[in-house]
Amino acid sequence: MLKIENLHAEIDGTEILKGLTLEIPNGEIHAIMGPNGAGKSTLAYVLGGRPGYEVTQGSVTFNGQDMLELEPHERASAGLFLGFQYPVEIPGVSNVQFLREALNAQRKARGEEPLTGGEFLKLAKEKAGLLKLDMDMLKRNVNVGFSGGEKKRAEMVQMGILDPTLAILDETDSGLDIDALRVVGEGINAIMRAPDKAVLLITHYQRLLDVVKPDKVSILSQGRIVRTGGADLAKRLEDEGYDAVMEAA
Ligand SMILES: Nc1ncnc2c1ncn2[C@@H]1O[C@H](COP(=O)(O)OP(=O)(O)O)[C@@H](O)[C@H]1O
Ligand SMILES: [Mg+2]
Repeated sequence: MLKIENLHAEIDGTEILKGLTLEIPNGEIHAIMGPNGAGKSTLAYVLGGRPGYEVTQGSVTFNGQDMLELEPHERASAGLFLGFQYPVEIPGVSNVQFLREALNAQRKARGEEPLTGGEFLKLAKEKAGLLKLDMDMLKRNVNVGFSGGEKKRAEMVQMGILDPTLAILDETDSGLDIDALRVVGEGINAIMRAPDKAVLLITHYQRLLDVVKPDKVSILSQGRIVRTGGADLAKRLEDEGYDAVMEAA
């Protein structure tokens, strides 16, 4: 599904990713943990193709395709979804409009027919139900006045509608209370737990991993993956902290 090899990337001439290697096969949920400033969000942005992030070395292949060659919208049409640590507000555009445009643009790029208004609303209702988000919220402008938890749930509704094959979720659990965390975690499982899909889940906390059980856990530190293990590695990090676990490595 995703193969990252010796990736080096910089922002404004400062190297942030320093030879990062990571492979996620189909069907796996791979959690990335690591101290603040390690480069986790930078990795998500580089994979999403955000302007200003320059790859200087290495390769990223997505289902055998050179992902770094693709424009951000081409990556999305190819099945990549990026969930942000801080979802943006879009005044003047309703969630329903935004999501329908986004879905139909991707369908068009894949040579599929657009969904009609009725078909789209049915799909949106189904996914909103999954995330326990009221349809009235989807009629409001994108994220404007939404609480932290509502933004994250709306984002997961977006993920459900776009139905990606690879989701990169950057601290989707930040700002969520316990109940919202469970709803969002179960949403991720329902949408992305499938043999032909994969997730790169960036998180600081074990509590999300209690709901979304990772197949693998890696520690990202100073721009590199320094350790990979099973779900138990996340538990050790929570108990002992990054320094202790990395020193023991
Ligand atoms: N726009 C930017 N310009 C310069 N440095 C940046 C920029 N964005 C992030 N950085 C730096 O890159 C490093 C990694 O940041 P980030 O990827 O956000 O880390 P993490 O998500 O792991 O906390 C940090 O040292 C941060 O200060
Ligand atoms: Mg971050």
